[in-house]
Amino acid sequence: MTDLARRTIAIALPSTGEEEWLALRESIETGWLSQGPKVKAFEDAFATRHQVAHALATTSCTTALHLALAAAGVGPGDEVIVPAFTWVATANVAVYCGATPVFVDVDPQTYNMDMAQVAQAVTPRTRAAIPVHLFGLCADMNGLRAALPENVVVIEDAACAAGATYRGRPAGGLGAMACFSFHPRKSITTGEGGMLTTDDADLAERANMLRNHGASISEEVRHRGPKPYLLPDFDVLGFNYRMTDLQGALGSVQLTKLDRFIAERDIWARWYLDALADIPWLQMPTIPEGYGHAWQSFVTVVVEKTAPAPRNDIMERLQALGISTRPGTHAVTELGYYKDLLGLQSGQFAVASRLERQSLALPLHNRMSEEDYVYIADALHGI
Ligand SMILES: Cc1ncc(COP(=O)(O)O)c(C=O)c1O
Repeated sequence: MTDLARRTIAIALPSTGEEEWLALRESIETGWLSQGPKVKAFEDAFATRHQVAHALATTSCTTALHLALAAAGVGPGDEVIVPAFTWVATANVAVYCGATPVFVDVDPQTYNMDMAQVAQAVTPRTRAAIPVHLFGLCADMNGLRAALPENVVVIEDAACAAGATYRGRPAGGLGAMACFSFHPRKSITTGEGGMLTTDDADLAERANMLRNHGASISEEVRHRGPKPYLLPDFDVLGFNYRMTDLQGALGSVQLTKLDRFIAERDIWARWYLDALADIPWLQMPTIPEGYGHAWQSFVTVVVEKTAPAPRNDIMERLQALGISTRPGTHAVTELGYYKDLLGLQSGQFAVASRLERQSLALPLHNRMSEEDYVYIADALHGI
């Protein structure tokens, strides 16, 4: 055991510095604070990095997902297939549209939607599916497509997956649309924020209009055009999901650091895999062949049968040592709202329920030192 002084290690911390500060300052000085040139530059750079034709910045991944379903025309009577183990927003957006989420259990190793179970969830009402690239590992998109009828729209929930790859292709262009998050727990952040990506020009145009109240032309085009004093027409019901230019400025700087952030996380994730391999009660995350993990989180599983204590007790002991941990995420199917809405029983989605109880995210971010990782490994060995 290494003799390291007690320390405080956060589960996640944004990595921002002087460049972000200067970028914000530039926006403030120009006076253009709402969606404008900085957002456009961020969108263009994000589209290039993720090899997609269109990227539309939003206020969050949740609003991007809502926009994606709305752009696809999902509405009352439709069903949307979602995994049972994910952040609640993945299911909520279906309800926002008046549609019904249909849950599918997840794979115990990858934590992603179990594609072998998708075909049973399909009905004549299935209109869309939202596979989640949980914690930065892409869902098996080929397996999903093979299980779905042609007409079902696939929208990637890539909240955690900026920079992740699937069979050599970046997340973001693996379905009809994809949605990313820039919440501070993600690898790159704009405070809050999201991005919708697509290769489909019609979907991009529709999402663009819906993002701005349903206006027929954007604010920037109107302000820079020959008649800024004329209001545009509004033919459809839209939303205000526009990102601010302050966030766009932050996003562009953060994006330049994405590859470095992921490379560093990959080094330390593999270090964890090695350093913790001898703890028999801790199941490690997997990296299937052909997948590029973006390591938004490093999520292990406390194996109940052999663990020295229940997961929550282990979290408490780690917290007492200054190490912040979290459950991976929740089983949406165990949340009161969805149990009431759909008449679900506890434990109906067995893997998701077990992962909710047993998953353990360890700190992994770009402001940790080698000593921090060693301290965490020592602490786990000491339990
Ligand atoms: C899988 C998943 N989907 C959606 C979201 C929602 O993202 P946002 O907070 O940007 O709305 C999150 C956020 O944690 C998430 O983890």
